[in-house]
Amino acid sequence: MELLDLVKKIEESKNIVVLTGAGISHESGIPTFRGKDGLWEKYKPEELATPWAFEKNPKLVWEWYNYRREIIAKAKPNECHYLIAELEKEKDLTLITQNIDGLHELAGSRDIIELHGNIWRVKCTKCSYKEINRDVPLKEIPPKCPKCVGLLRPDVVWFGEPLPTEELNDAMELSAKCDLFIVIGTSLVVQPAGSLPFIALENRAFVVEVNPEETILSQRAHLFFKMKAVEFARRFKEVWKELC
Ligand code: APR
Repeated sequence: MELLDLVKKIEESKNIVVLTGAGISHESGIPTFRGKDGLWEKYKPEELATPWAFEKNPKLVWEWYNYRREIIAKAKPNECHYLIAELEKEKDLTLITQNIDGLHELAGSRDIIELHGNIWRVKCTKCSYKEINRDVPLKEIPPKCPKCVGLLRPDVVWFGEPLPTEELNDAMELSAKCDLFIVIGTSLVVQPAGSLPFIALENRAFVVEVNPEETILSQRAHLFFKMKAVEFARRFKEVWKELC
């Protein structure tokens, strides 16, 4: 029984890494990027999620982020977000997320590496000013820096931009050192995040994937739970609570 195997693996593991993508927040009402109804089915990333797009039309880019902030502001963490936060209380566990929605923190996770930034953080394009801005809707579009009146932008990683160095280095190091790597809700098509489970595999970690669709990892994972995140969390907790 694969869930029992996973519970036992978690119990005996010394350090766990969990990697999440948009799929874990899908059942919280936040669209994913690829696949049916994905954001990239409706919008062109090159027009909305690149430094050039922002340079060309900051108002359009901010209108799109304003729309995403409105959706995310209504979203609540689901049982899978909460499960990861619960596991962090029991085990040495680091969460690496590609998501910018902040739902993991809301669910109680604390040891989080946000590889792609956070939609609630904005930064100045001219000076070093940064702030948490939760205005929904934004008071002005595009918002201006209160210090230098430069344009503020979302503190997220756009296509063509490097990931934050420290976060990426930590993520790669932890992926190479962990003994259990659990991937939930990511297509693994975007690099360098997509390589992390393979770094874990190469370093002989036990790799587990949760996704209703197959990905490039599924055949190589030691355990592949072909199901949605919330169903996985419910079924895992039944077995985990029975055993512990
Ligand atoms: N539970 C678990 N997984 C799900 C669910 C669900 N309920 N619904 C969808 N999925 C899976 C899909 O099968 C898919 O494999 O989640 C994955 C979502 O893939 P993407 O939409 O590509 O999202 P993600 O992998 O997070 O994208 C990575 O791409 O556009 C950039 O910066 C953006 O961080 C994002 C990055």
